Amino acid sequence: MPIKKIAVLTTGGDAPGMNGAIRSVVRSAINKDLEVVGVSRGYLGLINDDVKAMDHRSVSGIINLGGTVLKTARCPEFHTPSGQRRAYETIQKHRIDGFIVIGGNGSFTGAHSFYKKYKVPCIGVPASIDNDINGIDVTIGSDTAVNTALLAIDNIRDTATSMERVFVVEVMGRGSGFIALQVALAGGCEGVLIPEQKFDLEKVCHEIVEGNLRGKISWIIVVAEGAGSAPEIAKQINRLTSLEARAVVLGHIQRGGRPTAYSRSLALILGKAAVDALVQGQKDKAVGSQNGEIVTVDFKRAISKKDLKVNRLVNLIKVLT
Ligand code: F6P
Repeated sequence: MPIKKIAVLTTGGDAPGMNGAIRSVVRSAINKDLEVVGVSRGYLGLINDDVKAMDHRSVSGIINLGGTVLKTARCPEFHTPSGQRRAYETIQKHRIDGFIVIGGNGSFTGAHSFYKKYKVPCIGVPASIDNDINGIDVTIGSDTAVNTALLAIDNIRDTATSMERVFVVEVMGRGSGFIALQVALAGGCEGVLIPEQKFDLEKVCHEIVEGNLRGKISWIIVVAEGAGSAPEIAKQINRLTSLEARAVVLGHIQRGGRPTAYSRSLALILGKAAVDALVQGQKDKAVGSQNGEIVTVDFKRAISKKDLKVNRLVNLIKVLT
């Protein structure tokens, strides 16, 4: 069946660049003479029939904004048969031929399960600060989150050096160590703890003490939230080294803010690629960029564990400390 009318929604945790993806989807679709509707609050809006028409002007002036103008939500109900049935009723009511989901791993998991049951064509645009979508290089928003966290690390460095302290900085990422690894490297941090790699805190403490004896006066250890909690690790470092260790949890500041040029351009490229894929009859897939090429990846593969190939970066951080 030819695609004449599509819906676009953002769901799960917001990511900087989502607005660029919305803009690209809406304008690329209009350019192909498709009708476009926007769904508010992601899957929740599909369930509650929160649907509005979108035109060229409805996506003006949003490219530089963080968050998502369509709003987003976590929606456990979409993972239930009754939630999916109601979402399908909304799709039928508005005669939507296919939809584009801008979101991360959880969003694609929902889209894949919905496709299996209702066979409504759906294409995913990967947007998440976690960079945990398999089969593609980078998600929209992860570059911005890394730069936001890096700014915080640089600020912490000033006080760490001045007061000769150990800092443990916790960054987001859910089960992924992507943000932690990137900021630890770019911020010249002395250690990084990530879920992808086992670590021995006593060994880390030993290295800190050894370093101190050599005259190293301050330390920043980055911990991915999936590997542990900064307050807990700082407490252990205090106990095991007798050095003053402070904990900083960066939290949701990493999710907001102006998208970087990289996050924006990726969003604009992938928004159009998603419309093209839908029109070509593709379904149950995410679009993405890999090694400089635009690719499509089955949702099933996209939501499986991504191998970040962490060893090279972890070793480099060690060599440079
Ligand atoms: O998936 C993005 C993310 O920011 C994760 O890094 C984090 O674990 C989670 O969302 C936090 O979710 P919420 O804002 O719902 O607490």
